[in-house]
Amino acid sequence: MSRLSELYEEIALCEDCELSRHRSRVVPGEGSEEASILFIGEAPGWYEDQQGLPFVGPAGHFLDELLGSIGLSRRDVYIANVVKCRPPANRDPLPSEMRACRKWLDRQIEIIQPKVIVTLGRYSLAQFFPGDSMGKVRGTARKKEGRIYFAMYHPAAALHQQSLRRIIEEDMLKIPSLLAEAEEVAEAEAKPQQLSMF
Ligand code: URA
Repeated sequence: MSRLSELYEEIALCEDCELSRHRSRVVPGEGSEEASILFIGEAPGWYEDQQGLPFVGPAGHFLDELLGSIGLSRRDVYIANVVKCRPPANRDPLPSEMRACRKWLDRQIEIIQPKVIVTLGRYSLAQFFPGDSMGKVRGTARKKEGRIYFAMYHPAAALHQQSLRRIIEEDMLKIPSLLAEAEEVAEAEAKPQQLSMF
């Protein structure tokens, strides 16, 4: 069994916050254990709760389109959420719920070792850069602990506010060069170092 499948079994048993009492299914995440890029959304909605898969509703269809615009599909990436169970009536996740769920996200990151983490929306951004303003940092990449973080608006924002659609589409187009850069750095780091004295 893969490390992610083992993790999914653990997550399915989690009752560490109130959200576990309301879920139909837990939504751990989906994608390749070898993915170089990890997209992190906010929380499952109704469709995700029904299917046990992330981003399968209207916001997910837009995310699929965005991935397609850079020649990727779900199989090439990993998609997760800050919280793994749907908040009742799609309310915002509470700080205590995000704290309780953080360990699962950390375990996913530890297993996948993505080179690039794309935060989708402000709750995801706040997991890594608390206090940052989305309006200021969206579309920009930052390095932290050897990993590139790239902040984007949540795809659902485009469904409510048409003017954000173009911004989200443009930000997505910056990802391939980030990924290429991250892969170059990783390759250089993996090469044996030449010692100058020889
Ligand atoms: N919105 C999210 O943040 N995550 C999902 O999985 C679906 C919608």
